Amino acid sequence: MRVFVIGATGFIGGTVARQLITDENEVVGLCRSDEAAAALNDQGITPVRGDLTAPDSIIPSAGSSDATMWIAPRTAEGTISPSQVIDALRSPDDAFILTTGTGAYTDTEDAVVDESVALSTDRRGTAQSEVESSVLQAPSGRTTVIRPVWVYGDDITRRGWMRTLIQRALELGVSYYPEDGGTRRVSTVHVEDLANLYSIALEEATPGTLVNAPAEPPVSVLDLAGAVATAAGIPRKVEPISADRFIELFGALGIYQKSMVISRKRASDFGWEPGRKSVLEVLSEG
Ligand SMILES: NC(=O)c1ccc[n+]([C@@H]2O[C@H](COP(=O)([O-])OP(=O)(O)OC[C@H]3O[C@@H](n4cnc5c(N)ncnc54)[C@H](OP(=O)(O)O)[C@@H]3O)[C@@H](O)[C@H]2O)c1
Repeated sequence: MRVFVIGATGFIGGTVARQLITDENEVVGLCRSDEAAAALNDQGITPVRGDLTAPDSIIPSAGSSDATMWIAPRTAEGTISPSQVIDALRSPDDAFILTTGTGAYTDTEDAVVDESVALSTDRRGTAQSEVESSVLQAPSGRTTVIRPVWVYGDDITRRGWMRTLIQRALELGVSYYPEDGGTRRVSTVHVEDLANLYSIALEEATPGTLVNAPAEPPVSVLDLAGAVATAAGIPRKVEPISADRFIELFGALGIYQKSMVISRKRASDFGWEPGRKSVLEVLSEG
């Protein structure tokens, strides 16, 4: 299959693109610089220059592929809409996969939530629900929305939330977590397991499939803070601080700020079995 990956130079999209190559697909990757084009070439991915804010650079690749995967933010002003990309697909059987996330659920507290639970009704949740509905109810295309939870990989030095937490622990000499958060739990997923779900969805998903993508079990904020301390070389230096002070130090780093326990039942129904190292194992190995 020829698959167009928007976000092929990113953390998730890059891993998905490499998995698709391993699965013997032809992969076309969107890129925004000569350096990125060369890096894609080196991985066997055909680069195509473009930007989500320039629809004319997206539509031809979507229209000449069997599948398009959007694994990039949708927030920049002037960004093409997912519906415009779906309209550009050349056949109603072509696949379109949009990536959103689970951060727009309200605090799940102790409950395990699944796709039947509505997102928050605040601005962010409403905007996400609208775009997801536009994809899931599109009149043509084999459309899927994948909602990753907190994503990590084996490389803890990579840009992202895990590196931020470790860097802050190194700077401060302590791994802090918000004092009201010790009992919270969050779902996480290894990026290679997640890439495998994109592969399965490409082959198996029927039109209008919405799927959350957590590995199990969820991790406790306290265990995560402990593992961050170990990875930073300051084992057991774990302390609570007030939520206000936490936000001052970390900004809106959501992983410690609300319980986010997500069911993977629907993904499992596709035969998805995440099996990579847990986030605690990755952090403990440094
Ligand atoms: N990482 C997580 O824990 C997580 C969890 C849930 C959901 N998500 C969502 O998954 C998506 C990918 O996340 P990620 O962690 O892989 O992010 P990332 O590493 O920052 O990658 C983002 C990708 O999007 C591309 N991109 C950004 N703006 C673009 C534009 N205007 N036109 C074309 N391409 C553009 C980037 O291209 P350049 O290389 O040129 O910048 C890059 O390939 C994001 O939408 C994120 O919100 C991530």
